[in-house]
Amino acid sequence: MPTPNRPSGHINMAMTLDGFVARDDHSLDWLMKQPNAEDPSFAEFSARMDVIVMGSGSLRTVMGFEPWPYELPVIVLSRSMTTDDLPEALREKVEIRTDSPQDLMAVLHERGVRRVYVDGGAVIQSFLAEGLIDEFNVAIVPILIGSGIRIFGDINADIDLKQKSVQRYDNGIVRLTYTTAEGTGG
Ligand SMILES: NC(=O)c1ccc[n+]([C@@H]2O[C@H](COP(=O)([O-])OP(=O)(O)OC[C@H]3O[C@@H](n4cnc5c(N)ncnc54)[C@H](OP(=O)(O)O)[C@@H]3O)[C@@H](O)[C@H]2O)c1
Repeated sequence: MPTPNRPSGHINMAMTLDGFVARDDHSLDWLMKQPNAEDPSFAEFSARMDVIVMGSGSLRTVMGFEPWPYELPVIVLSRSMTTDDLPEALREKVEIRTDSPQDLMAVLHERGVRRVYVDGGAVIQSFLAEGLIDEFNVAIVPILIGSGIRIFGDINADIDLKQKSVQRYDNGIVRLTYTTAEGTGG
């Protein structure tokens, strides 16, 4: 573990070669149209995680998915949504909270959570800004879309990374895994 005082943070995203995780309207058509876009290593990644934390932007996208795509418990950070906005079927599966990333990690630490899968766009950026991401899994999809929601945003200081693995798939997707220079990625 990178620090004994909090769970480790992990991202696992598909990104266009020009650095976007969704179009401006949140659509993922560019990803869905890829042949065999499913990442074979995702199941192994998911099995290592204890909980998913995402923002309301990502929840709004996945709420439309049938069936619900996650087996892990899901925590959604939002100041605009409450449980009342969730369909009945999701009220047991999704916890909505308003904590800062630091505070949420402290709460999860108290609950015995060791590894947090941090998902979304703005939420990943806010965890990154607070130094809470330890492992980066990025699948680069062979497409340029010109504009959209960025995977990474502004940061105050450089973050040095260590390469952990590179996987190349026949469909043109390349999956890169990095950890922060001082961590093991949990
Ligand atoms: N390509 C991929 O692999 C991949 C993976 C996951 C998601 N996605 C897509 O990427 C897009 C990301 O969009 P997004 O950036 O809007 O999503 P997001 O990070 O999931 O949600 C952002 C929203 O979360 C709320 N929030 C609460 N606390 C926050 C905090 N500390 N930091 C940041 N946001 C906080 C805010 O809304 P409130 O007003 O509700 O507080 C904020 O607008 C989505 O369309 C999603 O479907 C793509």
